[in-house]
Amino acid sequence: MSNSNDLKVAVAGLGTVGGGVLDLLDAQADVLRQRAGRTVRLVACSALVKRDPMPKEAAFYPDARAMARDADYDVLVELIGGGDGIALDIVTTALERGRSVVTANKAMIAHHGLKLANLAQEKDVSLGFEASVAGAIPIIKTLREGLAGNHVSRVMGILNGTCNYILTTMRASGRDFADVLAEAQALGYAEADPTFDIDGIDTAHKLSILAGLAFSMPVDIASVGCEGIRHVSALDIQFADELGYRIKLLGVAERGPDGVRANVYPTMVPLASPLAHVDGVMNAVVTESDFAGRTILGGRGAGARPTASAVVSDLVDLARGAHLPMFGVPVDQLQTYPQVPSALRRTACYIRLTVTDEPGVLADIASALRDEKISMEQVLQRSRSPSETVPVVLILHETDEASLARAIDRISALPTVADRPHPIRIEAM
Ligand SMILES: NC(=O)c1ccc[n+]([C@@H]2O[C@H](COP(=O)([O-])OP(=O)(O)OC[C@H]3O[C@@H](n4cnc5c(N)ncnc54)[C@H](OP(=O)(O)O)[C@@H]3O)[C@@H](O)[C@H]2O)c1
Repeated sequence: MSNSNDLKVAVAGLGTVGGGVLDLLDAQADVLRQRAGRTVRLVACSALVKRDPMPKEAAFYPDARAMARDADYDVLVELIGGGDGIALDIVTTALERGRSVVTANKAMIAHHGLKLANLAQEKDVSLGFEASVAGAIPIIKTLREGLAGNHVSRVMGILNGTCNYILTTMRASGRDFADVLAEAQALGYAEADPTFDIDGIDTAHKLSILAGLAFSMPVDIASVGCEGIRHVSALDIQFADELGYRIKLLGVAERGPDGVRANVYPTMVPLASPLAHVDGVMNAVVTESDFAGRTILGGRGAGARPTASAVVSDLVDLARGAHLPMFGVPVDQLQTYPQVPSALRRTACYIRLTVTDEPGVLADIASALRDEKISMEQVLQRSRSPSETVPVVLILHETDEASLARAIDRISALPTVADRPHPIRIEAM
């Protein structure tokens, strides 16, 4: 039975996440009513194709724009996806109508978060986006509410299950990237067009959202440096093992005296770090802050049920009457920080070279590094092999990106070095 006190929900998109949300609202109706203090009631839904059966009592709209514009709802749940287009249109329509919104759409928040936060604030409604980062892990609430008494200095994490699955499987099987990617696609863990995942774009979207919340600053996707995992080889993973690391695609955002830096790149993570043991499709996020110290959250970063869990947590907040600024503070109080220029960013790193197996090679490499004032912590050289080239691995002490790039130019120009290497950063943790 409907009641005027019910929270009326319209869901746009009935795919993986939308289907999960409908299942959860149905299966957990009683517990949600208890926790929310009122009924969370589905009144309308939209998809391109009507589902069979459709939820009872919910009106079906083949046109999500019409639903956003005309239906009688309190909250629009946007689960269509895409940074622009229909998702942005319907969210804007709902907010302009003075209705709250819940979304799982990281691309939209990363590109339009500030504009949407402004609109939500102007209309005095809420925009929940817990499901946009790390699926079931309540990292948005942790940053905005749980750590509200802290200055957060760093937030970093494994934010893309597809990449983590690929890197974990490469390590377990010794197989190379392309082979494991093809398998991940066949199993449905990777999209037919995997670019967003494997080139780090999805992680960059999520990191820009986390950085916005962690540092109370406007979300700025353009400032996130982004490098994916295409160049990570089975050999790199083997060397990482030997050296006491795991390779993970990390998003890392840091605030220091010089400003903020946010980067996505494959990273050597020491075995002592909890992130080293987050395997397969799992996600994890680490925060570092002044009073709380380090917090670590892990769990399922995607999938129908984990993501629905996050979407519905926002609905319960709304039903309870919680009304918080999207990024923890009113939009006009968000801080802007200088962006640390990439050339000045400092990290330690791993470099794997393919060199001709002849005397003097290591001396030439060492002199190129010395010219850029970069010191080496460790060198690993494979014993002679029947082939004419051998891999040589260098672990370099912390250096700035500009010196590193120049050293790589010099090393790549040596006649004894076969290919231009891709450095893999080593994050202190
Ligand atoms: N999948 C995950 O594990 C996951 C995790 C976290 C966040 N997210 C985010 O959640 C959102 C949804 O992802 P998803 O995986 O659920 O996508 P999906 O399975 O592709 O579902 C998209 C849904 O949107 C519907 N749709 C597309 N265009 C529409 C239109 N013009 N009008 C009405 N409905 C339309 C589709 O309808 P038809 O089914 O009829 O084609 C489908 O039901 C995305 O922003 C994604 O980034 C997903």
